[in-house]
Amino acid sequence: MPVVRGKEIEVLYSASAIARRNLELAKDIASRDYEDLLVISVLKGSFIFAADLIRAMHDVGLSPEVEFIFISSYGAGTTSGEVKVLRDIDNDVAGRDVLLIDDILESGKTLKFARELMLSRGAKSCSLAVLLDKSVRRKVDLEADYVGFDCPDYFVVGYGMDVAHAFRELPFVGIVKGDA
Ligand code: IMP
Ligand code: MG
Repeated sequence: MPVVRGKEIEVLYSASAIARRNLELAKDIASRDYEDLLVISVLKGSFIFAADLIRAMHDVGLSPEVEFIFISSYGAGTTSGEVKVLRDIDNDVAGRDVLLIDDILESGKTLKFARELMLSRGAKSCSLAVLLDKSVRRKVDLEADYVGFDCPDYFVVGYGMDVAHAFRELPFVGIVKGDA
C-alpha cells in the first residue's frame, strides 16, 4: 500500500484504470452531437480529471473550449451545505452546449446549482461528467450524463480530491487508512 504523509492509502481506482475509463467517457461524449462544446471544470477538485478528460476528448477528435468555475459547498467538514460561486467563468454560455466536469457527485447540490446557473444564462444544453458517483449520498434529484465509476460510500482522496488540502497530487483515487 502506498504511504503518503505517513498515512497508508488504499488504492480504489488506479491511474491506469482511470485512464482507460477516461477514454471510454470521451468516446461516449463524442458520440453525442454537441455543437460548439464548452467544457467547464468545477474547481478545485476536478482539475486533474478535467485535464485528463479533455486530452482524451482530443484523442477522439473533439475540440472543446475550456473554462473554469470555482464553486464552494459550505458546511462543516466533509458534508455539503450551501453552494456559492467564488470565481466565475469569463465566457458567455448563451446558445452553447456546456459540459460541466466535477470530481464527485455526492449530494448533488453543487452540480444542480451549477447546471441551473448555466441554463438560466441561456446555455443550449448542460451535461454533467463526473469521475465518481456516490449515489447513496444523493439529496437532490440529479444524475450525471457521464460517470467514471460508481463509488462506494467512503471519503476518497487523490486525483485532485483532498482532505484538509492534502493528497490532491496522488495519481490514483484512494482511501486514507490511518497511520502507517
Ligand atoms: P455535492 O454533490 O454537492 O455533495 O458535492 C460534491 C463535492 O464534495 C465534490 O465536488 C467534492 O469536492 C466534495 N466531496 C464529496 N465527497 C468527497 C470525497 O469523498 N472526497 C473528497 N471530496 C469530496
Ligand atoms: Mg468539488
